[in-house]
Amino acid sequence: MSKREKIEIPVEAIKEQQEIISRVRQRNDLDLQRSGRHKSAMVVTYGCQQNENDTEHLKGMLKEMGYLFTEEKEEADLILYNTCCVRENAELKVFGNVGALKHLKTKKPHMLIGICGCMMQQEHIVKQIKSKYKHVDMVFGTHTLYKFPEVLEKAMDEAYTVIDILDNDGYIVEDLPIHREGRVKAWVSIMYGCNNFCSYCIVPYVRGRERSRKPDIIIEEIRQLVSEGYKEITLLGQNVNSYGKDLDTPMDFADLMEQVNAVQGVKRIRFMTSHPKDISDKLINVMGEGENICEQLHLPFQAGSNNVLKAMNRKYTKERYLELIRKAREAMPDIALTSDIIVGFPGETNEDFEQTLDIVRQVEFDSLFTFIYSPRKGTPAENLDDVLTKEEKQANFQRLLELQNEISLKKNKAYLGKTVEVLVEGTSKNNSEMLTGRTRTGKIVNFAGDQAMIGELINVEISDVQTWSMVGSVHG
Ligand code: SAH
Ligand code: SF4
Ligand code: F3S
Repeated sequence: MSKREKIEIPVEAIKEQQEIISRVRQRNDLDLQRSGRHKSAMVVTYGCQQNENDTEHLKGMLKEMGYLFTEEKEEADLILYNTCCVRENAELKVFGNVGALKHLKTKKPHMLIGICGCMMQQEHIVKQIKSKYKHVDMVFGTHTLYKFPEVLEKAMDEAYTVIDILDNDGYIVEDLPIHREGRVKAWVSIMYGCNNFCSYCIVPYVRGRERSRKPDIIIEEIRQLVSEGYKEITLLGQNVNSYGKDLDTPMDFADLMEQVNAVQGVKRIRFMTSHPKDISDKLINVMGEGENICEQLHLPFQAGSNNVLKAMNRKYTKERYLELIRKAREAMPDIALTSDIIVGFPGETNEDFEQTLDIVRQVEFDSLFTFIYSPRKGTPAENLDDVLTKEEKQANFQRLLELQNEISLKKNKAYLGKTVEVLVEGTSKNNSEMLTGRTRTGKIVNFAGDQAMIGELINVEISDVQTWSMVGSVHG
């Protein structure tokens, strides 16, 4: 890859946002003195972990500006949607939710409504918001997330929709405030953007080009997290195998993983997402040897037919994918494998789809993320023709789900009677008497235990399993 000139955000630009944060904070503090009521914000996140991590930064900025958080629209002084556009249904949900706020905005004219994230990097969407959703006060994209304080301050005073979008390759912005969702597990973005341009995918258009954070900054962030008590770190990037190619002193993802594994006190390391085209033997070795690196690999294959893979611009074959899985299992016999699959890519026939089922049968994944193809504006696949009807695609999708459910259950049954190490994350959503956590392989385990166990690694004996989770009791 040729090196490009990286656009750095000048330190002054970040300082300016910090000054705005202080000003907004003063205004909100004055309001608090007058009304005796804290301002509250509701932030709704769609999409991938990258977006979740961005939301943690948005919440960090909001917190510094004096906001508390709520999940009730009626209570909120500010509602912000951090959006995803990877499939059409993600976009429709946002339009539905924002449309439904019109009424509330009439009742509460001072409530501010904002939309940000990937969807806003598309011109036709911003146009639609401007013309049909006039009750929206703020619009900003992924590349201008760091300017949220500036957008918010303007929106507090102006009646028009404040829009701040940049269509460029993107920046790396360090030192943004952060309010993390959990106390046990943390996400650390190691790179942003994607250069792969899979023919169906919008991500490279809305997230810009690949850019890696410096390794020493990543390691420092992880050390800090460990000192705050975090036990599990998930390294994030759209294609982590490309990490480091653009650094002044190039290094690869396997080198970074070695450094992360060596940080004292990190108990579990995960990462996502890897692209099969450039996962290296070196990485598989580092995973096998690194004692804090979890036995888990999310390796999307998307489709089983080589013709479809070619049309998707994925740059690997079914045979190469299966070879990688064989190598990963050789290095880590207990590894849990997960994948993403798209059903019904244009041109996919029933015979092609059989190849997808064949991979699923051969590999026996622990679980799958399955999607029906959704055409995305501006991508090369947008106007390609289908061979299969909507109903045929749906039927194939159903077959895939049923096959995988059988496999997931079978895989979980292999855990019956075994004792596994669980990192306890909190109380179970469905039963507040139960604790919940995950195995190193990423399986959800529920069990009865003391609240003091939250954040600890506990040995649990598995007594019952379902397709999506397991139940057990504290061992010994
Ligand atoms: N960078 C990651 C995935 C990002 S998007 C990777 O390459 O693996 C997450 C998943 O959404 C993809 O793996 C793919 O399975 C799915 N996806 C992306 N674009 C899609 C589209 N247009 N229609 C349906 N599914 C899509
Ligand atoms: Fe999209 Fe492909 Fe990049 Fe993943 S690797 S984000 S699927 S273009
Ligand atoms: Fe969606 Fe953007 Fe992630 S499009 S999948 S939120 S990078």
